[in-house]
Amino acid sequence: MLLATQNLTRRYAGLVAVDAVNLAIPQGGIHAVIGPNGAGKTTLFNLLTGLVEPSEGSIAFAGQDVTALPAHKRAALGMARTFQNIRLFRGLTVLENVLTGLHPRLSASPLATLLRLPSFRAEERHAIEQARAALAMVGIAQHEDAQAVNLAYGDQRRLEIARALVSQPRLLLLDEPAAGMNPAETVALAELVRRIAASGPTVLLVEHDMGFVMGLSDSVAVLNFGRQIFTGSPRAVRAEPAVVEAYLGARLAAKLRVAHGE
Ligand SMILES: Nc1ncnc2c1ncn2[C@@H]1O[C@H](COP(=O)(O)OP(=O)(O)OP(=O)(O)O)[C@@H](O)[C@H]1O
Ligand SMILES: [Mg+2]
Repeated sequence: MLLATQNLTRRYAGLVAVDAVNLAIPQGGIHAVIGPNGAGKTTLFNLLTGLVEPSEGSIAFAGQDVTALPAHKRAALGMARTFQNIRLFRGLTVLENVLTGLHPRLSASPLATLLRLPSFRAEERHAIEQARAALAMVGIAQHEDAQAVNLAYGDQRRLEIARALVSQPRLLLLDEPAAGMNPAETVALAELVRRIAASGPTVLLVEHDMGFVMGLSDSVAVLNFGRQIFTGSPRAVRAEPAVVEAYLGARLAAKLRVAHGE
């Protein structure tokens, strides 16, 4: 397995956000984590990438126990991610944003200073080549000099993916990559995710758009209230009563909240 968790658990006061999850993600392909709002999907990604510490359990990545490793060391081993809420450096250009993916420990301003030096070393020239390749992969190479903040929303999402890809990760984690996209953009994004997976990285994604998930994924893990209630092929997931119930339950709860004026 490329990534495996055992009994992975994160508690917050009064709730268990991730409850004894055992993921087993093989090398290669596209894998999904789904579940209703608040099911623990983002917390799971935060645990995997080292942004949140587990209350219990362990994480193995690329044959190594990474449970105690800080985020930047996991990144160095080949984990890269995007965020549910876009996190870009608003004052930097598109190309500079991608370069930050190669220097995860540099903050925005020293990097910008570095980039303005008249003489680039060979290393930096190589970094720029890699960044351009990542931009070409996601289809926004023509915007490299634009300010990130001026990109169309869908292109900002693509930029985040380029920034994650530039480090040539073994595992790419995408947290709701299709959020806020229209149907045409979502179809194009699915095509991009397929191309990325075909080019090497294993993809693990969280997404609410079921058409997107079911059409793309080799395996799907379903969370509900932090618990992993089912894992299987898209076809098996669709046929599983416990999954249908989890989603119906969540929808009903939302309706009740509306009915109560909350
Ligand atoms: N730092 C925190 N402190 C307290 N509770 C938290 C914290 N982070 C997450 N939670 C809670 O943990 C649960 C899982 O949250 P999480 O964001 O992981 O869900 P999610 O599946 O990503 O939801 P969504 O689909 O809405 O993005 C929620 O009840 C949330 O309120
Ligand atoms: Mg989330």
